[in-house]
Amino acid sequence: MAQKLSKIDRIIAKYQADKSALIQMLLEIQRENRWLPKPAVVRLSQRLGIPINQIYHIATFYKAFSLTPQGRHSISVCLGTACHVRGAPRLLDRVTDALHIGPGETSTDMKFTLSTVNCLGCCALGPVIVVDGEYYGNPSLKEIERVIASCD
Ligand code: FES
Repeated sequence: MAQKLSKIDRIIAKYQADKSALIQMLLEIQRENRWLPKPAVVRLSQRLGIPINQIYHIATFYKAFSLTPQGRHSISVCLGTACHVRGAPRLLDRVTDALHIGPGETSTDMKFTLSTVNCLGCCALGPVIVVDGEYYGNPSLKEIERVIASCD
């Protein structure tokens, strides 16, 4: 943990412990860890003199932050209206079958985190999933398994 805290200290030093850069610091910690571990939030609170509940308030407000460990690969299934009428619930079933985890869960090997979203802005492709930023329109179970297998 000491090594991780020194990384946090480096991030804080990069922004000269400037309270107004809190969100940038949180973003960097999120990028490094794929989530915001409690010791990191406590360190930020102590070093910046910002109450811990204020930091958690920000961290829970923005979707970019996660307070639970995330898998190395992120898979999102769109359940927006357009995707829903085009079969998103069945697509979600295919994805959960392939991953063996449900929405909001992370695989025990920390490889995948599955989430659902409300619209990805590409309704014509629907139903849609996004795997690490790559969009797939109505993939079959075989395609989903192929994409998952290609993730290291
Ligand atoms: S509703 Fe799914 S991309 Fe818009």
